[in-house]
Amino acid sequence: MTRSARFLKRSVALGAIALAALSLQPGAASAATEPAPSGGTPGTRVVGGVPAAQGEFPFMVRLSMGCGGALYRQDIVLTAAHCVSGSGNNTSITATAGVVDLQSSGAIKVKSTKVLQAPGYDGNGKDWALIKLARPINLPTLRTTTDGRYDQGDFTVAGWGATREGGGQQRYLRKATVPFVDTPTCQQAYGSTYIPGEEICAGIMSTGGVDTCQGDSGGPMFRKDDAGAWVQVGITSWGEGCARPGKPGVYTRVSAFSQDIAEAADQL
Ligand code: ARG
Repeated sequence: MTRSARFLKRSVALGAIALAALSLQPGAASAATEPAPSGGTPGTRVVGGVPAAQGEFPFMVRLSMGCGGALYRQDIVLTAAHCVSGSGNNTSITATAGVVDLQSSGAIKVKSTKVLQAPGYDGNGKDWALIKLARPINLPTLRTTTDGRYDQGDFTVAGWGATREGGGQQRYLRKATVPFVDTPTCQQAYGSTYIPGEEICAGIMSTGGVDTCQGDSGGPMFRKDDAGAWVQVGITSWGEGCARPGKPGVYTRVSAFSQDIAEAADQL
């Protein structure tokens, strides 16, 4: 892929036309909720996921621009750089937390005060951002991995994004399990568009069928650490379509940025 095509793919401002294949665009916040599946087959519908239980992932946040996020601190959400438009004071984002059902009366809604987009973010790699909240939310945070030792195995992804390519945003949080895809395999899938030092891939290469999709961006990819606690290894970033065979999901490699993120959070 040429550099310009790659830039196109990563540009947030392009709108729905460029969305079809390689896309970083968050799900439109206004998109209709998909109708409930009638007799839906478990495991066929994030794509290939199942509903998460209330309280199962207490750190999960939905952002009003149509992205996911995770509580990094009680007053800071970690999300994707392509979900925000820059850095600075910003009171336009609402974070919804504490519920799997976005329409629940128990939803905790807090406005943003500031945004920090990864320094040097240009649409390729470095897809992380922090959102400072107007007040802390009294829920557990999600620890980020500080080294590469958890960059392998099976990962959990979760979000309110589409359950199929072109599908609508979801009212209820969904989750799925995706296996790690190693660097050579992901390079074969995406060529130089994939930046191994900054991105980590996951998905079922042979069959596809399970993946994050539009509107899941910014949400965490996580697994259990040696102590049995959740640890964040990725941030949902992009993929060619959703859940296609041979086209894994691409996630920000959190281990590569954990120091930068920690320092940025201290200054936010
Ligand atoms: N860029 C999308 C978003 O903004 C996430 C796409 C993830 N795609 C994938 N095939 N894993 O919501």
